[in-house]
Amino acid sequence: MGNDLLKGKRGIIFGALNEQSIAWKVAERAHEEGATFVLTNAPIAMRMGEINNLAEKTGSKVIPADATSVEDLENLISQAMEVLGGKIDFILHSIGMSVNVRKGNHYTDENYDYTMKGFDVSALSFHKVLQTAKKLDAMNEWGSVLALSYIAAQRVFPDYNDMADNKSYLESIARSFGYHYGVAKKVRVNTISQSPTMTTAGSGVKGFNEFINFSEKMSPLGNADAAACADYCIVMFSDLTRYVTMQNLFHDGGFSNTGVTQEVIEKFGA
Ligand SMILES: NC(=O)c1ccc[n+]([C@@H]2O[C@H](COP(=O)([O-])OP(=O)(O)OC[C@H]3O[C@@H](n4cnc5c(N)ncnc54)[C@H](O)[C@@H]3O)[C@@H](O)[C@H]2O)c1
Repeated sequence: MGNDLLKGKRGIIFGALNEQSIAWKVAERAHEEGATFVLTNAPIAMRMGEINNLAEKTGSKVIPADATSVEDLENLISQAMEVLGGKIDFILHSIGMSVNVRKGNHYTDENYDYTMKGFDVSALSFHKVLQTAKKLDAMNEWGSVLALSYIAAQRVFPDYNDMADNKSYLESIARSFGYHYGVAKKVRVNTISQSPTMTTAGSGVKGFNEFINFSEKMSPLGNADAAACADYCIVMFSDLTRYVTMQNLFHDGGFSNTGVTQEVIEKFGA
């Protein structure tokens, strides 16, 4: 049951691949809260066809776009305004991929072509989305743009590999573009730094199962799941957070401010 938090708002949601995807949960919640939106993903990700089920369920149109292609993004954003009947109020960038991680290359043995590809998909695409939206004057005032990040942007998690660097850059874009978009159009730009979550992108990281258990024990509230992340995204898209911009917002059950927990200490007992 929704509370009409997004009633009358129009959005674009990137990155719903399957039911586990964080973007999938956000789309379901945004629909419950009264928003209308366009769903988008890379053309190659459409092959599984699962996104069509989500589109049907939420009454949304699917417009494919490779988030690294400015041409695709121009087409997506202009079409979205046409389909939805006006300017956009919220955008979710829920995109991440590292070729080095996929190929099992160690951080100290990167293939730089792979690094550049992963950087383009995971970080620079956020700038491309923002720049294209701004040039097309596609966002309403007080609109809200979010990308999803991870605490490896601030602290070392060795197996997160080059995605750590991509997330640092992503968070920096939220600050820098957030400044310019705020001044020019009163549009807000933030990143949400989410707990490890069992999704296709998440489980691609080496040792993910052990890692998610460790994180659970290191978080006073436990790991935040994808549904809880979706709730937070809805609040950030709503008018209740109009003065929050240029922030990296931790949504992690307290992990980021915890040095150690009793449960973890006990594991090291003699
Ligand atoms: N799962 C986690 O543990 C976790 C934790 C913190 C942050 N995040 C971030 O959350 C976001 C969503 O990931 P998820 O965990 O829901 O996994 P996911 O695999 O469901 O989503 C990743 C999405 O990126 C899309 N994508 C890849 N290349 C693209 C391209 N060129 N153009 C457009 N889309 C493209 C994929 O098709 C997929 O839908 C990512 O930014 C991820 O880094 C995930």
